Amino acid sequence: MLVLGIESSCDETGAAIVDDTGRVHADVVHSQVGLHAEYGGVVPELASRDHLRSLGPVVRAALTAARLGLDEIEGVAVTHRPGLVGALLVGVQAAKGIAWGARKPLVGVDHLVGHLLAAFVRRDGHDLAAPRLPFVCLLASGGHTALYRVEALRSDAIAELGATRDDAAGEAFDKIGKILGLGYPGGPQVDRLAASGDARRVQLKAPMAAEDSAEMSFSGIKTQVARLVEARSEALSDQEVADVCAAFQATVTGTLAAKVVAAALREGVTDVVVGGGVAANRELRRRVTELGRAHGLSVTIPPPVNCTDNAAMIAFAGALRLARGERDGWDLVATGRTALARTTRKGRGRR
Ligand code: KG4
Ligand code: ZN
Repeated sequence: MLVLGIESSCDETGAAIVDDTGRVHADVVHSQVGLHAEYGGVVPELASRDHLRSLGPVVRAALTAARLGLDEIEGVAVTHRPGLVGALLVGVQAAKGIAWGARKPLVGVDHLVGHLLAAFVRRDGHDLAAPRLPFVCLLASGGHTALYRVEALRSDAIAELGATRDDAAGEAFDKIGKILGLGYPGGPQVDRLAASGDARRVQLKAPMAAEDSAEMSFSGIKTQVARLVEARSEALSDQEVADVCAAFQATVTGTLAAKVVAAALREGVTDVVVGGGVAANRELRRRVTELGRAHGLSVTIPPPVNCTDNAAMIAFAGALRLARGERDGWDLVATGRTALARTTRKGRGRR
């Protein structure tokens, strides 16, 4: 079953064609990073306008790359939550128009479910063994950071075990990048510079590091770095910037790795998965793999293209919904919140 997936929840416009076994037939992503860079973060209105400009060409490029016509597609899947509502609306309205015009069924996909199932998306040259169910997944992106137990590949079989109480891990990477003047987004820059830094030269405390809790916090460490930079009378040298990147990255990835492995052991599962944009981070990949293996767990971390925002994961999650006979109506709405039940409340601790 071939499905066209559309993604426009934040600053990537994506269209992909994937079948219900997870094989990618085409995957096109247009990134808006250059558009938002001068503002140091995503400007929602600019994001919506750019999705509007890019979506048609991106969908056509995906169909061309797969050498398929819309008549050969069996359904249209679209991210309809969570994200920037104006940005989501562009994708949702386009998906409705395409599905209506081609007389195909439409399904909405929760962006977080897309990230959680991304480990099953298979691309030529990147054939990883799929994780065994049930598994524990760390989802760490620019907007969300949480641990989930995934019982089956359906949103009603996914339970949040705990989440960040404040900033997402990717948001913290981006804020550190901004404080250090590394440009936007900071995550990939911090990852690059950390390689030449020495983490031992900078003392940072990991907030909420206790492994028996699945809850996290990343705003305190950002404040520690801001204070450290403010306290200096002159600009940091290149080596000092690299040292701060290394210390920050070691602290955050150490906490994330310890939490996901501890959660998997508590849950009694054999498999650990990592997803979301921060899963592209080399130190996080290495730490989770090493710590997981040391505890006898099987660790699956998809290639970075499956981790950062893309429409292939949305098409796959949608293909599974369509294969189960699920459909959404033409009244499908875009909304900023996830449909997954949450246990951690931002800023207020446990319910
Ligand atoms: O999943 P994603 O593409 O979009 C959201 O749904 O948020 O994640 C984007 C986030 C950004 O905060 C970005 O800085 C971070 O993922 N990121 C990284 C790396 N690559 C992307 N963070 C750390 N190291 C990386 N290599
Ligand atoms: Zn995402």
